[in-house]
Order: sequence, then C-alpha cells, then structure tokens
Amino acid sequence: MKNSDLVRVLGALLLSASLLAFAGQQDQNATPNPPPQPPAGAANGPQPGPQPKAQQQAEQAPGADKSMQEAMRNFLAIGAPPDPEAVKRGQALFVSNCGFCHGSNAKGGATGPSLVRSVVVLHDGGTAKEITPVVRNGRQAKGMPAFPNLTVAQFKDTAAFLLKRTQAAANRMEYKILNIVTGDPKAGETYFAEHCGSCHSASGDLAHIAGKFDPVALQSRFLYPKTSRYPGMPGPPPDPREQKTVTVTMSSGETYSGTLDHLDDFNVSLTTSNGEHRSWNFDDEKNIKVDVHDPLKAHADLLPGYTDADMHNVLAYLETMK
Ligand code: HEC
Ligand code: HEC
Repeated sequence: MKNSDLVRVLGALLLSASLLAFAGQQDQNATPNPPPQPPAGAANGPQPGPQPKAQQQAEQAPGADKSMQEAMRNFLAIGAPPDPEAVKRGQALFVSNCGFCHGSNAKGGATGPSLVRSVVVLHDGGTAKEITPVVRNGRQAKGMPAFPNLTVAQFKDTAAFLLKRTQAAANRMEYKILNIVTGDPKAGETYFAEHCGSCHSASGDLAHIAGKFDPVALQSRFLYPKTSRYPGMPGPPPDPREQKTVTVTMSSGETYSGTLDHLDDFNVSLTTSNGEHRSWNFDDEKNIKVDVHDPLKAHADLLPGYTDADMHNVLAYLETMK
C-alpha cells in the first residue's frame, strides 16, 4: 500500500470512528442502554493527529499498514478482500457477459438490476455458492438469461469480482474514488494512441462520443462495445460493425463464408451474403476448419489488462470528445 492510500485508509478509519462515537452519544441520550462499543481494533487505533506522523509510523513499521487496513475492514464489517487476480479475471468475464444488462461496474444497467445491493450477491460473499444456481439457470421469464457453459472457476472469479464491487460500495471512501471521472486526459491520450489509434480517432469515428453517452455508459461502451448479445432479449439491434464472421473450410477444400449465427462444441452455422443459412455438425463432417473473425476481439483482449488508472485515464480522455 502506498502512503497516499494509507492516508486515505486512516482518514476513513478516523471519520468512521468519530461518526460511531457520535452515534454512541446519540444512543445514550435516547435510550437507557449503554452505547455500542467500537471494536477493540478501532478503539486502540490511531488517535487523531497530523497525518505525516502516521506516514512516518508506516515507514518505520512495514507491517503496520497491513494491520491497519485489516482493522478498518473489521471495523466496517467488510471482510477480507478477494484475490486481486480472481477479481481481474472476474471483471473481464463480467463486463463481456453481464455488463450489457447489469452495467460494467455491476451497479445496474439498461435491462438488469444493480447487483451491488442484491441480497443474493451479499449472501454469496465471494463464495459463488449463491450466485451459481441463479446464473447457471437464469430467470428467463424475467429477462435473466441462463449461462450453462460457465465453469466452476469462472463462477468463482465472477463471485470474487462481485464481492469486490459490494465491498467498494460499503467503503464510502473507495466508492467515491471509483465513481468520479478522476483520470488524467493526457495520460489517457497516450494510452489511446498506443492501444486504440489503429482503429479509432478522436477527430473521426469517436469525434462526439462523449455527447452520445454519459460517463458510466461511455465506460461500458469502450470496455466492451457490444450492443446486443442475447437474441430475443430486449435491447438495440447489433451494429453490423461488431458482427462476427466465419469461414468454414470442408475437408474437400470447399469454403463457405458469412456472418456467424452459432458456434459450440458440436455445431457451426452461418448466413451467407445472399441470406442462405448453412449449418454443420462436427460429428458428421470430420476435419472441417472453422475460422471466426470477431471485430471486437481487440476489445476483449484489452479487457484483462486495464489497471484502474488506465480505465480512468481513457475515460477522462474520451470525455474530451464532446
Ligand atoms: C440480458 C440481460 C442480462 C444479462 C446478460 C445478465 N443478467 Fe443477471 N439479471 C437480469 C435481470 C433482468 C435480473 C432480475 C431477474 C429477477 O427479477 O428475478 C437478473 C438477476 C441477476 C441476479 C440475481 C439478483 C437478485 O438479487 O435476485 C444475479 C446474481 C445476476 N443476475 C447475475 C448475472 C451475471 C453474473 C451475469 C453474467 C454472467 C448476468 N447476470 C447476465 C438480466 C441479465
Ligand atoms: C482492432 C480494432 C479496435 C481497437 C484496437 C479498439 N477498438 Fe474500439 N471498437 C472497435 C470496433 C469494431 C467497434 C464496434 C463498432 C463501433 O461501434 O465502432 C468498437 C467500438 C468502440 C466504441 C463504441 C463506439 C460507439 O459509437 O458506440 C468505443 C467508445 C471504443 N471502441 C473505444 C475504444 C478504445 C478506448 C480503445 C482502446 C483502449 C479501442 N476502442 C480499441 C475496434 C477497435
């Protein structure tokens, strides 16, 4: 943890401690019961004082920042943070599979509720036990599709990401930091030139992008710009520029190309440019070759690599394109 983070954590701890002390006083006035005692960790924690002193202490005792963070988490009843690598993987899964409906930060989107306040998610607590049956079976009648093909590991990663989101919402300081356009547009411009400029430009296709979407929608849009992923589900029709195409090569060498309709372990189907539907079963057609072209592959590939700072910086830069 960096010193600036430590100061933030200390600030949160002190603020909460004083609020609790205040609440305790109020209780005492209102009822004959003794006021609630702050947990031991918090009561023995740092007393209000100049922040540089706290920083010095952290430098002198390298273990101090960790126990401080733990104390704050216990104090706010947030629990242990999930494994950051699992959160990262879970975030990539969530944004591409669920973000379209639930919002890329799980706080609710066009057609799905906020999962940050969901009782199912809060009970799950990062274990995947509660969310797995809901997500695996879906609630199709209510607009929540089934995800029968996600693996146990993917459910665990998704659960870790959702736990992180609920913790962020519980910790008001972090919550605030994550939800404001705080990035540096200059740094965002550099990132953009390196990772996005081969397909987009600020004066071309994205010229007025910030006028079309609010910051939250714009963030989802650049993280994974899919308009409609679930045939039959409500939502705008897919943009032809994001349509996957496929070329199927038979063992004879004959090829068929078109837009990809469906691909799983057993079948592939496509629609050719003159509207003809074709499909093949892999058991019947041995040795056929399937080449899929996904225009959004670059976006999917970028997803797991973003740091929080990258995301904020890119968003801040996109916000300049009014
Ligand atoms: C097409 C839109 C859509 C997609 C995609 C989607 N959901 Fe949902 N989800 C919903 C809707 C709508 C509900 C509310 C259903 C209801 O009212 O019971 C829901 C409910 C849920 C719930 C239960 C919340 C509660 O408190 O009852 C969980 C958990 C959930 N979704 C997780 C996910 C995850 C994880 C993914 C991605 C793997 C996902 N959803 C993808 C629309 C969607
Ligand atoms: C290899 C090409 C490629 C790269 C690299 C790429 N994108 Fe995209 N992007 C696309 C395609 C294809 C679409 C979908 C069609 C469209 O909406 O333009 C898209 C869509 C978008 C959209 C939505 C545009 C709209 O009108 O709704 C945004 C915003 C966006 N990309 C931002 C970015 C940013 C930021 C990066 C870099 C971090 C990036 N893209 C990297 C190909 C790319």
